[in-house]
Amino acid sequence: MSITGQAIDRTDGRRKVTGTAHYSAEHSLPRMAHAVMVQSTIANGRIAMIETAAASGMPGVLLVMTHLTAPTLPAGGKAAAGNPPAGRILNLLQDERVHYNNQPVALVVADTLEHAQAAASRLRIEYRQEAAQLDFASARMSTYPPEKVKNEEADTCRGDVESGERNAAARVEAVYTTPIEHHNPMEPHATIAAWDGAHLTLYDSTQYVAGVRTTVAKTLGMPPDKVRVICPYVGGGFGCKGSVWSHVVLAAIAAREVGRPVKLVLDRQQMFGPVGHRPNTEQHFLVAAGLDGKFTAMRHSVTASTSFMEDWIEPSALTTRMLYECPNQQTSHRLAKLNVATPTFMRAPGEATGTFALESAIDELAYALQMDPIGLRLQNYAEQDPQSGKPWSSKSLRECYRTGAERFGWARRTPQPRSMRKGDTLVGLGMATATYPANRSKAAARATILPDGTAMVCSGSQDLGTGTCTIMTQVAADALGLPLDKVRFELGDTDFPPAPVSGGSQSAASVAPAVQAAATAARLKLVRMALADPASPVSGASTEDVVIENGWLARRADPQRRESIATLIARNGGQPIEAFMETEPGEEKEKYAHHGFGAVFAEVHVDPDLGTIRVERVVASYGIGRLLNRKTGHSQLMGGIVWGVGLALFEQTEIDLRYGRAVNGNLAEYHVPVNADIGSIEIIVVDEDDPRINSLGAKGIGEIGITGVGAAIANAVYHATGKRVRDLPITLDKVMD
Ligand code: MOS
Repeated sequence: MSITGQAIDRTDGRRKVTGTAHYSAEHSLPRMAHAVMVQSTIANGRIAMIETAAASGMPGVLLVMTHLTAPTLPAGGKAAAGNPPAGRILNLLQDERVHYNNQPVALVVADTLEHAQAAASRLRIEYRQEAAQLDFASARMSTYPPEKVKNEEADTCRGDVESGERNAAARVEAVYTTPIEHHNPMEPHATIAAWDGAHLTLYDSTQYVAGVRTTVAKTLGMPPDKVRVICPYVGGGFGCKGSVWSHVVLAAIAAREVGRPVKLVLDRQQMFGPVGHRPNTEQHFLVAAGLDGKFTAMRHSVTASTSFMEDWIEPSALTTRMLYECPNQQTSHRLAKLNVATPTFMRAPGEATGTFALESAIDELAYALQMDPIGLRLQNYAEQDPQSGKPWSSKSLRECYRTGAERFGWARRTPQPRSMRKGDTLVGLGMATATYPANRSKAAARATILPDGTAMVCSGSQDLGTGTCTIMTQVAADALGLPLDKVRFELGDTDFPPAPVSGGSQSAASVAPAVQAAATAARLKLVRMALADPASPVSGASTEDVVIENGWLARRADPQRRESIATLIARNGGQPIEAFMETEPGEEKEKYAHHGFGAVFAEVHVDPDLGTIRVERVVASYGIGRLLNRKTGHSQLMGGIVWGVGLALFEQTEIDLRYGRAVNGNLAEYHVPVNADIGSIEIIVVDEDDPRINSLGAKGIGEIGITGVGAAIANAVYHATGKRVRDLPITLDKVMD
């Protein structure tokens, strides 16, 4: 029986709950100094003066670094700009220019954190302020197209939208808006930098150890093989740790300057600073259909905010291009500049916000046509990818609608808004489609069977708290023929074989095939050793005749005569057996369109007087290939849905229009869902095998969970109240009359 797929507890769970798992900030190095990042208090302008003498004279201070004293970096600190996954423009104290409030403008290093904090508070900085653009409403008056949107064109057009609109029986045209949101993983960004001569070691909380190595090496002008990045545990990433931000490089520079290891940890308020966010979007949506519900026209025009330093686009219209059949369609993306930090990937960037607009508009159209929302979606079901014309690698969306609706009890929904109640409470049922690309990249792994009969498998991937470590252990154990507790899987180190960024929901789909291949290759070496060994019970057999189970090796036809792997290796020289494999997507990647799909159903209860909304129940059914671990997989999907509740009802960063600072930059005032906000969440994963994505048939699931949830809840709120809220989050003031 296969271990892969089973609901195994996290292999690193015990280490995490007992505190023996050391996160980036928890490493303690000899003579380690502590850095505090000082940030700008204006949104636009120049530093006119920095008075550092008082700070420098404070107890324990080792370094006060400003743009006047920081070392000059190659290409002004922009040498790494343009690198995947995101060419960040960092703020590395190379000049006096300030582009946003909270921009790093100085770094103070001291022997203790308290000394560094005290000294940082003594810096006196004067600015020459310039007018700042902080209001998205006025910034979007002058927009421009981004060069590309995730390697796709910014704009697309197929058919003729105007004539499609003319031939329609019903149409919906509306504007949907989503606010700036900030990532709030439990573990903030943290870096420890330590130099040993010309060699740099970074303990960094990151989704991409290899990316940190490349970016830091390029920025500092040193060979990448002189940089090692270590990150065995991450306390949540969600996209903000997918890029290297300024603090990582600043820690490295400071450590070199003071000749001691330097630790730099962002505090919670700094998480609302120079480490990315989800930008504002304004999405104009038109959808029109005939009486039969078949879409005749669709237009999705997205404007998103970005910084003055860099173009980063929230790709909200990409889902619209592929989710439904529609002969006439236009999509576009535009950018509007704000004096804020640069936005970045945030869980399902584009899909989370884009499906809010798309799936809300379709719900509005269902009311206009008096059709069932699922029926309307089925009427426009895309049998192949409408954008590329390619067949799907697999698609079980019909099954998701069916199983989700059945489990949720969709049939009891009476379509009329305000028609369902529980006591005085308004009850609303809403649904939406979920989808996210099933990405896969090149990845490598090494498997080593040790003389004691256990195995060590590694890959330079990352575990963001998602269960990567656990599922890779399962995959390796199956491939090696070892029980789970005889396999140790390690990740998060650039010394391990390279793996892609743990972003774009691709780690499971990319790294698991490499782990499986490396483990299989090591196993084959072991089998060959046994076949050639006259003392082995399988001597002279063929490789197919050999079974390895639970660490025992035997001939398939005669499983009683067996020997342990340790015995076999001991007799054959006692050396570890090692195999390295690199895997990458084959021609299937080009031949098929790869996506996960799902259907999300939400029940909300709304107080008719107060407008308070409670998400009582969510049922979501997904077609996501083969789940590698039912427990961690369900948890991850559930976590995505919880975040979807945050997107729908709570999350919004309020930017002070005078100073450009996030006024609710803390966990007390930036609302994320807590346990009391979450009712029941039920996950269904339909049977789906996708041999075209990889050898395990597994699609990524990191991001699909949040998609569709915003619309499912907005649609349920409309059903409950008759109020169509097109501006997230749906706070009670928008629901009350
Ligand atoms: Mo994900 S937003 O690609 O980490």
